[in-house]
Amino acid sequence: MPFVHDDPRIEAFGRRVQASCSGEGSGHDWWHIWRVWRLARRIAETEGAEMYICELAALAHDVEDHKLGRPPGTLAAWLEEAGVDGPTARRVTDIARRISFRGAQVADETPCLEGRVVQDADRLDAIGAIGVARAFAYGGSRGRPIYDPGETPIMHDSFESYRRSRSSSLMHFYEKLFLLADRMHTPAARALARERHAFMEAFVQRFLDEWEGLA
Ligand code: ADP
Ligand code: NI
Repeated sequence: MPFVHDDPRIEAFGRRVQASCSGEGSGHDWWHIWRVWRLARRIAETEGAEMYICELAALAHDVEDHKLGRPPGTLAAWLEEAGVDGPTARRVTDIARRISFRGAQVADETPCLEGRVVQDADRLDAIGAIGVARAFAYGGSRGRPIYDPGETPIMHDSFESYRRSRSSSLMHFYEKLFLLADRMHTPAARALARERHAFMEAFVQRFLDEWEGLA
């Protein structure tokens, strides 16, 4: 189903992104982008953020993700092809560059309301039931075990050490996913995060009980 939007620039850009990542298997597929776009719209509405920027930045946020290995300049070129003007493209690129989580002890850089909205939307899609599915899909795509009882979580203090982490998927909950609810910027996202967070806690508790044969 091709992406549809009543703004032709957003539609063209969305379709370009969609074409580039359909069927991706590590949790960065088109449907992740689509969910983040929808959440960003919802949060932007409540927070009074600039909708055009939030929508483009949500669609753009993973185009140059370090894990996907696309050359710098890809995002600017795709925005230009879609008819987005230079100043807007620079704002969107700047927001996208600062979105990613960089480690438990690494502070976020979030310059503007629109950046905070999209970062919150991206992080909501990393937690809750979808977050559980994505963590194990990502771990599987990298050959990681689902859990190793000998491990302890590492609170990474640099992006480099976070990137190099080889932890099991279950450790990822402690190293990132359980930290996200408290790092939401906007009240709208914080409210959505609360329930998603509680769901993940119940999931991990149940996982560990089953692991021990207690449940
Ligand atoms: P984002 O889209 O927020 O930038 P990432 O690109 O870091 O997130 O990761 C994509 C998805 O894979 C997220 O749901 C994330 O939590 C998950 N993920 C990232 N690193 C790991 C890991 N080491 N183990 C399991 N899941 C991971
Ligand atoms: Ni993302």
